[in-house]
Amino acid sequence: MYIALNNGVKIPMVGIGTFKSKAGNETYNAVLSALKAGYRHIDTAAIYGNEESVGKAIRDSGIPREDLFLTTKLWKSVKDYDSTKKAFQDSLNKLGVEYLDLYLIHWPTTYEIVRETYRAMEDLFYENKIRALGVSNFLIHHMDDLLKNCRVIPTINQIELHPRLQQYRLQQHCEESGIFLTSYSPLIRGEAFEIEELQLLAKKYNKSIVNIIVRWGIQRNIIMIPKSVTPERIIDNFNVFDFELSDDDMQIIRKLNTAKRYFSDPDNIEV
Ligand SMILES: NC(=O)c1ccc[n+]([C@@H]2O[C@H](COP(=O)([O-])OP(=O)(O)OC[C@H]3O[C@@H](n4cnc5c(N)ncnc54)[C@H](OP(=O)(O)O)[C@@H]3O)[C@@H](O)[C@H]2O)c1
Repeated sequence: MYIALNNGVKIPMVGIGTFKSKAGNETYNAVLSALKAGYRHIDTAAIYGNEESVGKAIRDSGIPREDLFLTTKLWKSVKDYDSTKKAFQDSLNKLGVEYLDLYLIHWPTTYEIVRETYRAMEDLFYENKIRALGVSNFLIHHMDDLLKNCRVIPTINQIELHPRLQQYRLQQHCEESGIFLTSYSPLIRGEAFEIEELQLLAKKYNKSIVNIIVRWGIQRNIIMIPKSVTPERIIDNFNVFDFELSDDDMQIIRKLNTAKRYFSDPDNIEV
């Protein structure tokens, strides 16, 4: 299942996350299992240190490059135009690909650094080396500053989003500019499995708790990238296209919001 970004590029609504997937066999096997299970969207980042293993799995899968959607991210230690171009090329080399589908600024630092690094990303976009640009961990004020200063409107904001942190305001704000959200850490660092309402929904639909959360995201037009290195989980997590949560059940999840963050606050990160 795909959704069209604001520049017409299609993104698969479910991808495989790779944060904390160890470089080497662990990431290689996870990505290969995901591609065999039908995933066509892989999310990695320079800071994860596993881009080479992702690239090897992509090549060995035999799936044509144009059938895949590959995202990586620029780490926050990269602060100017030239270093951004260099970091991008390092990621391409490690991944062993000619272009990226989506390149994200991993964390907002200062407005000045964001404008400068994004300017380099825009030039790479105009050189056809990136199909879509985006950001991650951006709050409303970070989005607004970038939107005022960019030449290419970002397509995605990848943020912490799950049943405890539902992010409706940020979603509305982004969507007013045609920007979709991607949810990270959908499983709330394991807490999702303890939530009784989700347990009951899993039973009702005869699905796993991960399936319920991923489906909830899809029905909100949010791109979902659950991570696993366990082949059976990778297969099961993708099993979300044969059922639909009712409006009443979407409302049950809506009430689980506590607006609590489990990751860093984007306004309080080390620059
Ligand atoms: N932009 C950012 O700043 C940012 C931050 C965090 C994450 N992300 C991206 O978002 C992706 C997802 O977030 P995440 O990795 O933090 O967390 P997550 O996907 O919510 O959870 C991953 C954890 O859940 C376990 N798990 C997965 N499927 C399961 C299942 N069916 N049953 C039981 N346990 C299961 C995994 O274990 P096993 O692997 O051992 O199976 C792993 O420990 C990341 O991998 C990364 O690509 C981005």
